[in-house]
Amino acid sequence: MEKMQVLTDSFGRKIDYMRISITDRCNLRCIYCMPEEIPLLPPEEILTYDEIISVCQAAVCLGIRKFKITGGEPLVRTGCPELIGRLYTVSGAEQVTLTTNGVLLGKYLDALLENGLKAVNISLDTLNADLYRQMTRFGELSTVFENIERAVKSGLRVKINSVLQKGVNDKEWEALAGLAKDNRIDVRFIEMMPVGHGRKYAAVKGEELLNSLRDRYSCIEKDSSKHGNGPADYYRIPGFAGSIGFISAVHEKFCDSCNRIRMTAKGEIKPCLCYSDSIDMKEVLRSAGSEDIRIERAVEAIREAVDRKPRMHCFERRENISEKRQMVLIGG
Ligand code: 5AD
Ligand code: SF4
Repeated sequence: MEKMQVLTDSFGRKIDYMRISITDRCNLRCIYCMPEEIPLLPPEEILTYDEIISVCQAAVCLGIRKFKITGGEPLVRTGCPELIGRLYTVSGAEQVTLTTNGVLLGKYLDALLENGLKAVNISLDTLNADLYRQMTRFGELSTVFENIERAVKSGLRVKINSVLQKGVNDKEWEALAGLAKDNRIDVRFIEMMPVGHGRKYAAVKGEELLNSLRDRYSCIEKDSSKHGNGPADYYRIPGFAGSIGFISAVHEKFCDSCNRIRMTAKGEIKPCLCYSDSIDMKEVLRSAGSEDIRIERAVEAIREAVDRKPRMHCFERRENISEKRQMVLIGG
């Protein structure tokens, strides 16, 4: 049997997961993620699907086996479900999942399932329709809600990602956590990170939220079963079908177990979310030479990005955060 490559960084962390943003566009305008008006990248600046496939081929050569398709909103780019199908044909790609705001999930659900999608993360910060409209600037909660129900019924594994902001939607945790009661949905609370517009908002600490959940559900208990690729800490509430997760990027540093790199829609490979450092994959892919040579150079570029992973982020020392891009360009 062929020996599986294992990719490790200079701190001995195993890197097997890559987040790939396929578009800078979005059909919503969440206040902490995206300005109302943002200059869009010209189409030729965005990696083509063929180029994204080449990056994945290079990534699996090194030992990366799991891919998450992100945006902006990935489903606004034509052909997203088919890209997922193509990614599954890359030898060594074991898992391809999607992060979406859920607005177009109903429209593309059948195509996504046909192309092999098994799990989806849906971003949802409130179950109050007025607040949803306010936070996303024009989103319709009922559409997203129906799409979540359809996705769960279809057998997809569904996780809800919620970011709470003090004074805006910090009271929404109870309703959001309630989604995990009757459905096998994991609801994860992600601390607002001080990146892009996120800098302007106060994060609700994961720990504070866990205390609120403990007050409400005294029998909540730690869930140590494996739920995915991420750094979430999970808890179970007896009687709930799904679990409650906490991704406390700011207040609990989980950098020791970081397993990922990211690529923006322009093909910039980011070693860490917190810093502006990136490696231009587009230049590598569009350089002269045969496909084999380009893949070889892409392998070197990914290796370089992994070697340049810092030991940890510095979200607690804002003056040291060098990432100035908006989250919509990075893909979360
Ligand atoms: N901190 C944490 N999560 C963020 N997202 C956008 N901006 C931030 C931020 N500053 C999340 C969205 C969505 C995903 C694309 O990224 O809520 O789940
Ligand atoms: Fe779009 Fe998601 Fe950003 Fe909202 S959080 S603007 S849905 S990319």
